[in-house]
Amino acid sequence: MRKENKEYIEKTLFNSLSGQSLISPYDSEKVLFEPKIRLGILASGNGSNFEHIIKSIQNKQLNAEISILIVNNPNCLAIKKAIENDIPYVIINHRDCNSRLDHDKLVMKKLEELTVELVVMAGWMRIVGEEIINRFKNRLINIHPSLLPSFKGIDAIQQAIENRVTITGCTVHYVQKEVDSGSIIIQAAVPIKEQDSKETLKKRIQDMEHIILPLAIAKVAKKIRTSFKDNK
Ligand code: GAR
Repeated sequence: MRKENKEYIEKTLFNSLSGQSLISPYDSEKVLFEPKIRLGILASGNGSNFEHIIKSIQNKQLNAEISILIVNNPNCLAIKKAIENDIPYVIINHRDCNSRLDHDKLVMKKLEELTVELVVMAGWMRIVGEEIINRFKNRLINIHPSLLPSFKGIDAIQQAIENRVTITGCTVHYVQKEVDSGSIIIQAAVPIKEQDSKETLKKRIQDMEHIILPLAIAKVAKKIRTSFKDNK
């Protein structure tokens, strides 16, 4: 692991020890699996989670290759990060499709063409249908900016503020038909401070997202590798 990455994780963990945040489950052991897992990343927005997946691979924290970035929105900033890092990407604009199913089918076709093993919704702002969910059963995960099952759906950070909770966070979970409801893989708790604005809170939550998403990918990748061996 590179020095700056180690320092970043240690600093964040220090914050967690001083009551700023908490990751669970957290294994200090590195999750190992071989060979590299082929990832398909789905993104719609700024792409900061996508960028941290790339960093985790570069830092050898994650033994993965990104087969494709799929975006549904031509203005998605993740595209720039894909170009900078030589990662193949495709824009599958839902506005060009007649139905949700048509869009899902195009996304699924691309993932299958590239024999993607694990699909990561990293800021993907679209509901996916049963076809994709069933096709990638136990191999489709999502990150959501709340401590699920609280604050499902749109604008989870605003929901947490409006409900005046004092702890919120982020969750990586398997995707199932009901939105933001699949089994939880890993969560991070983040306190809401009195002086927080939505932006300061979002920044604190996203700092934790950038740590837990690569950890969750590694955990699920290990499971995929293990079940593959068991099925041989
Ligand atoms: C992340 O905070 C993620 O949790 C959220 O979108 C943001 C994307 O940020 N996802 C959802 O709200 C899904 N319901 P990014 O584009 O910078 O990674």
